[in-house]
Amino acid sequence: MSASRTIMLGFTGASGMPYGLRLLECLLAADCRVWLAYSTAAQIVAKQECDLVLPAQPREATRQLAARYGARDGRLTVFGNDDWNAPAASGSNPADAMAICPCTMGALGAIAGGLADNLIERAADVMLKERRPLVLVPRETPLSAIHLENMLKLARAGAAIVPPAPGFYDHPKSVEELVDFVVARVLDQLVVPHRLGPRWGAARGGPDNSAGTQPA
Ligand SMILES: Cc1cc2nc3c(=O)[nH]c(=O)nc-3n(C[C@H](O)[C@H](O)[C@H](O)COP(=O)(O)O)c2cc1C
Repeated sequence: MSASRTIMLGFTGASGMPYGLRLLECLLAADCRVWLAYSTAAQIVAKQECDLVLPAQPREATRQLAARYGARDGRLTVFGNDDWNAPAASGSNPADAMAICPCTMGALGAIAGGLADNLIERAADVMLKERRPLVLVPRETPLSAIHLENMLKLARAGAAIVPPAPGFYDHPKSVEELVDFVVARVLDQLVVPHRLGPRWGAARGGPDNSAGTQPA
């Protein structure tokens, strides 16, 4: 089902780059075609949090990240965040779904305001106008009234707001399990199958982990 699915993925400069990288890994493992763009601030956070240099040159970034995650040929394309020729910049050729993970309050505000000032913001704007799934993983604490109003505005416009707020009811033993809890909820919203962690009620006859449709 996901083989033909194209996912636009944006990394912005909020804390939580492990979520974004794990999401990229899982999308490629599910054989999705992934279009990736990241902001300058995301490059700084990737270095800070994951000791990972995200190359400035899209071609080099595609090569490095495809090798890192064992992506099949052509499944990953990295675009510059100012590349208006990218397919995701137009409603005539949008992705099937988009996630911004992690998502800054700045990007959230810009998308809520319809600015479309870079590829990530424009692609998100396209998803909303074309009524396709847009998943935002916003990270800040505490949240101001401005942040909350922007989230409400975006939720009303059709976006899924998926804060990185892992549950503890499965007794996570590692940071990786906490990361996977959040990434699983994002994959569910993107309708990409995964087997990250148990699903509530599966042992009692509920759906198993191969579908991507259960709520949090
Ligand atoms: C290490 C680090 C962590 C940051 N964490 C957050 C965060 O959690 N949430 C947030 O909204 N901004 C955070 N910022 C600030 C944003 O990176 C900054 O507002 C930036 O201009 C956002 O640009 P972008 O939306 O284009 O990525 C962080 C910055 C750094 C360097």
